Amino acid sequence: MKKQLAVALSIATVVGMFGSVSAFAGETEAATEGASGAGKKIGISMPTQSLERWNRDGSYLDEQFKKAGYATEVTYSDNDSGRQVSDIQNMIADKVDLLVIAAIDGEALNTVVDEAADANIPVIAYDRLIKNDNDTYYVSFDNYTVGTLQGKFIVDTLDLDNAGDKTYNMEITAGDPADNNATFFYKGAMDVLQPYLDKGTLKVPSGQTDFDSVATAQWDTQKALSRMQNILGSYYADGTQLDVALCSNDSTALGVTQAIQSDYAGKNSVLITGQDGDEANLKNLMDGLQTMTVYKAVANEAVVTLDLAQAILNGETVDQSWIDGRKFGFDCTFDDKSYTAVDKVIPSLLLVPDVVTKDNAVEKLVDTGYYTRDSDGYLHPAQ
Ligand code: BGC
Repeated sequence: MKKQLAVALSIATVVGMFGSVSAFAGETEAATEGASGAGKKIGISMPTQSLERWNRDGSYLDEQFKKAGYATEVTYSDNDSGRQVSDIQNMIADKVDLLVIAAIDGEALNTVVDEAADANIPVIAYDRLIKNDNDTYYVSFDNYTVGTLQGKFIVDTLDLDNAGDKTYNMEITAGDPADNNATFFYKGAMDVLQPYLDKGTLKVPSGQTDFDSVATAQWDTQKALSRMQNILGSYYADGTQLDVALCSNDSTALGVTQAIQSDYAGKNSVLITGQDGDEANLKNLMDGLQTMTVYKAVANEAVVTLDLAQAILNGETVDQSWIDGRKFGFDCTFDDKSYTAVDKVIPSLLLVPDVVTKDNAVEKLVDTGYYTRDSDGYLHPAQ
């Protein structure tokens, strides 16, 4: 625990020292001479600045690599996969030594990852798997566990095991079908909740339960809002009570929460799940409008990515004993069975997500240095 705090604080300090890191396309800086990364350049391709977490990921990655002496190029592709392809092609043309890519669309990067492989540039699939067997490694959180944490939270909070004849109504909002993670989150939650749906303890009045019906293109808040408004208008206008809104992440939870505030006539408070710890959602959490979020310390994801990149560039073998030797101070597991790109299982380094509620938010987020709590009582990212 102490080590985790130290890592978080040292990152917070580094970020503080550099101030807020701008997130503009094509940024390149000279490497610090003598540092381990001197003379090497890392291409960091993030999906978009419109979803909060990627700004944090981009900043942390940029800071981590620069601190280790690497030059960096950071791009955000505005959730446009065609643009992400050309951003990555530019980095390949710029002869980066390694690529860190969080894909907008895991399938759409197939050709450009082949181009990277042809140029002998290793690719770390960051957070989201790219559907190409040339991915060198995959760094993420245990995405299936994110979903199971949401499902278990619902089961425990409503005490579904002792519900007797009582039934609860739930609606489901999942993520972007182009994002390989989205089905993992959905499946993790549904594997926990399906027995209660089968028993009738949980019901979905809209009948929309399969992934394709509940998915949200580009994880878009507005799309999640409109869909929930339609559901509320069609299935809840007669006074039916909504008890649970299972939302895969915070950007969708934000839209769903807004829809419930504007279009739901019931007076009960709806249990709403999320993921990420976005600022607006943490405000809703403190105000009792969102019930939980699954927090993923992306600062630690950046730490693992830096060490992994160095190992790849040094030709080291990465496995569980390599991870253990790093003494990260937070949990990270080597996984060589869960993530298949096309035919090949991509060796993965998976960090551990955690449940944050109003009651433990200060302990989990502020005491660890990831967020500050201002006089307004709300939490704000430390960077
Ligand atoms: C990430 C989530 C995030 C979502 C939308 C997923 O791939 O793992 O943390 O909420 O993308 O940005």
